[in-house]
Amino acid sequence: MATKIILDCDPGHDDAVAILLALAAPESVDLLALTVVGGNVPLKLTVNNALRVLALAQREDIPVYAGCPRPLLREMVTAEHVHGESGLDTGSGKLLEMPKTTVADLHAVNYLIETIRGSAKNSIILVATGPLTNIAAAFAMAPDIIERLDQLVIMGGACHEPGNITPAAEFNIYVDPHAAKAVFDSGVNLVVFALDITHQMLITPARLAAIAELGGRAGAVVADLLEFFNQYDMSKYGWSGAPLHDPCTIAYIIDRTIFTGREMAVTVDINDGPSLGRTVADWYSVTDAKPNAMVITDGDSDRFFGLITERLATL
Ligand code: RIB
Ligand code: CA
Repeated sequence: MATKIILDCDPGHDDAVAILLALAAPESVDLLALTVVGGNVPLKLTVNNALRVLALAQREDIPVYAGCPRPLLREMVTAEHVHGESGLDTGSGKLLEMPKTTVADLHAVNYLIETIRGSAKNSIILVATGPLTNIAAAFAMAPDIIERLDQLVIMGGACHEPGNITPAAEFNIYVDPHAAKAVFDSGVNLVVFALDITHQMLITPARLAAIAELGGRAGAVVADLLEFFNQYDMSKYGWSGAPLHDPCTIAYIIDRTIFTGREMAVTVDINDGPSLGRTVADWYSVTDAKPNAMVITDGDSDRFFGLITERLATL
């Protein structure tokens, strides 16, 4: 039976691949909707990009709900330096087709509350691959939905790895650290894909070539997107490819055996200063803090990219 998911995202190249992977695994994933947040680029663009990706997959039947355009307290921080001005810039410079569909009228936070309240307990996995503003707002407005969720699976944080937007913090957490703290402290059944695991999932030339050689609608476009997405991180880290962060969350839902992890206590630093947005993980249980997250620590990158390539070929 396919798992019902709602994907809260800020497309963004890796969000786009996560959306496509979710659509390419119908036996495992029943994608109910996309809820969108400001993050990689402003909300107007992340919404438009979500619609574009659904159009690419010819799945305009999936509704898109616009959420919060900015963090709860802090000023907005975006990542055009990574994703380009559009948020989905390509190596060829040819952007994805403009969507023919538009965003739904209901606010994303209200959609999350109404849908989770209206569904059987533990029947929905909420996936979040952007700043956690929509999630924190929904939990604050309707705390009853927290225990109704089967899991909240996020891409965010950095335990041992240095941050990618500051030396201490990963982008999704840093953009809205107050929302992240509220979510990490909420008691939700939390699974965390931090940079510690996503930095093991590099878009190497061989992996990029395998995607480029796919037939069908998605392969060539995804390769063109990843061609651009590789540029910033390869020059920054000197690695053989950029880390493909967000699809880890969907791959986990499709095949949990690709990854391993363990429960640990994780707190989010909300103090102004150099550690703002740091996710402090009690990796070796040196405190008596109660574990609040399943932190994914290892994964098989070949199986991960094999899954993505095999599934993109079906779109
Ligand atoms: O730090 C990487 C994360 O921030 C990814 O989700 C990327 O899309 C951006 O949202
Ligand atoms: Ca993202």
